[in-house]
Amino acid sequence: MTVNLASKIQKFQFKNLFLNASGVHCQSKEELDDLRHDQFSGGLVTKSATPNSRFGNPLPRYHSLPAGSINSMGLPNEGFEFYLDYVTHAKMQKPMILSVAGMSKDEDLDLLHQIQNSDYQGLTELNLSCPNVIGKPQMAYDFAGSDQMLKEIFAFFKKPLGIKLPPYFDLVHFDRIAEILNQYPLSHVNTINSIGNGMWVDIESEMTVLKPKGGFGGVGGSIALPTALANVRALRQRLNSSIDIIGTGGVTSGRDAFAHILCGANMVSIGTQLYEEGLGSFRRINKELSEIMERKGYHSLDDFRGKLKIM
Ligand code: SIN
Repeated sequence: MTVNLASKIQKFQFKNLFLNASGVHCQSKEELDDLRHDQFSGGLVTKSATPNSRFGNPLPRYHSLPAGSINSMGLPNEGFEFYLDYVTHAKMQKPMILSVAGMSKDEDLDLLHQIQNSDYQGLTELNLSCPNVIGKPQMAYDFAGSDQMLKEIFAFFKKPLGIKLPPYFDLVHFDRIAEILNQYPLSHVNTINSIGNGMWVDIESEMTVLKPKGGFGGVGGSIALPTALANVRALRQRLNSSIDIIGTGGVTSGRDAFAHILCGANMVSIGTQLYEEGLGSFRRINKELSEIMERKGYHSLDDFRGKLKIM
């Protein structure tokens, strides 16, 4: 039996559901080219672009944990023009998502105005959830502010736009954010960004493992999987069916990807595991997911997407 891993966000067709998580292997032209040519990833997401290039936070800013990672990268990137040019002109092997993150609301609006006025016709994703920029709050935790911002954005922005969300932890917060997002013609939400402001301690040196922000950083990898699954599930239960979901967080295997799809994910992105294992992770996880689907007699993702059963 052959299984079909094809998926889509709105009208954009992906030959399989796997993406890189923004931030992993997507900063330089070489990294983006690697992703574009990799036959086992369905699409790619750029590093979140700020108006100007940034070095990001001081080193060390990434640390592997026993069951995941902690990072405080601080949006190192080549600047908006570089990424807009890449997604507009690189020969399309697969759909690409342009991720953007201004340092303020005005910068976000300005970046989106530039995209609206450009030749770019693909998907854009506004990152409202980076936990690592010093002095910049995670916008999507400010419900009233996010609502106002989306109102201003959709007054002029007519191209497909999704947003990257931070994890939420209270059912009331899922209700609140979904109520806001449902008012707007979003192409998708990407959930979750890393779990913000975690801490890891080296007890020999009695020091934090990260330098920036006094050692606080975003937690990802396996340890984030339960939180990611809960966010995909809770949002799928609440969002309009017209808003697609990219499930991000804790995917290290085909089993994890299968769980994300059961919870309702249209696409699945791989972050820490891609960083640790490299591009080969796409091939392995593809194979593992295909084997699970074959064993269960599923031909396509639609056969089980969102069909999680309750005990
Ligand atoms: C970073 O701090 O650069 C990673 C988090 C993000 O992309 O939002």
